[in-house]
Amino acid sequence: MRPDPLIPMVGVVTMIRTDTPDVKTFRVLGVDGTKPFLHIPGQCAMLSVPGVGEALFSITSSPTEDYLDFSIKKCGCVTEWLHAMEVGQQITIRGPYGNGFPVDTDFAGKDLLFIAGGIGLAPLHSVINYCRHYRDKYGKIDIVYGSRSKADLVDFPEITEEWCKEDGIHVHLTIDNAQDDWDGHVGFVPNYVKELGFDTDKTVVMCGPPIMIKFTLAGLQELGFRREQVYTTMELRMKCALGKCGRCNIGDKYVCKDGPVFRFDQLDTLPDEY
Ligand SMILES: Cc1cc2nc3c(=O)[nH]c(=O)nc-3n(C[C@H](O)[C@H](O)[C@H](O)COP(=O)(O)OP(=O)(O)OC[C@H]3O[C@@H](n4cnc5c(N)ncnc54)[C@H](O)[C@@H]3O)c2cc1C
Ligand code: FES
Repeated sequence: MRPDPLIPMVGVVTMIRTDTPDVKTFRVLGVDGTKPFLHIPGQCAMLSVPGVGEALFSITSSPTEDYLDFSIKKCGCVTEWLHAMEVGQQITIRGPYGNGFPVDTDFAGKDLLFIAGGIGLAPLHSVINYCRHYRDKYGKIDIVYGSRSKADLVDFPEITEEWCKEDGIHVHLTIDNAQDDWDGHVGFVPNYVKELGFDTDKTVVMCGPPIMIKFTLAGLQELGFRREQVYTTMELRMKCALGKCGRCNIGDKYVCKDGPVFRFDQLDTLPDEY
């Protein structure tokens, strides 16, 4: 039976990986050692620490894996507590929430361009690995990923050891400022996307800080992309994550339930209040 997404389940942290100075990836399983629930790439879960609080995070693992991973940036009360956890500790988890990306419909058969900045890779990681798993269902895959420095690139070993070595996948990494142990591209993501100058028949999936999204979208439009070709996932403050509390609504849409994944032409129809 599918668990009730409103009821928190007890989860056990079975793996913790330090990705960057302020991002760690946590693997969560149920107490019986199985995956707590099934999800679609782009969906989220609420992790909570009794007595501390709860916070919403994208599920970074692909639905094809038998665990749930979360890449979490330390920035406040709950995330600091999570970063201090050790393997074997318990938390509670509820979900999955949100609509997820249309990986089996709109994305099927398309060339895909993923664009991420910093921790914005977290929701895209699940989609990318889902598309890698069902490689024949998708066309060419390009991934543009940037961070402040090499040390701030989340999932760097997986990107260089796996993604970069696969046929039909082209990874374009960039960091904001030059450093001695980096011989790759240097510069901001929006400029790099314009320099790379992609064919405009691709479907674009983008996540990162608002300033990156704004300038990258403008650059894509200069290249000839239409807003209906570009998907993003929104990060508003959320409480219930179920469309009940009204914390995240924009007009008549609840970002937690109707999103967090939207196409830019869908966002254009919403009131300008976020
Ligand atoms: C749909 C969705 C998916 C997310 N996915 C991830 C993810 O994969 N990895 C990850 O590290 N974080 C993710 N976040 C953000 C995460 O929920 C917040 O970082 C977390 O709630 C902070 O909790 P805290 O108690 O540690 O910080 P708080 O003490 O609550 O806040 C610390 C600081 O972070 C700011 N902040 C808190 N929540 C948000 C938010 N939602 N948006 C912008 N600023 C915020 C506060 O204003 C404050 O400045 C996601 C948020 C949403 C809504
Ligand atoms: S977080 Fe409660 S309605 Fe969206």
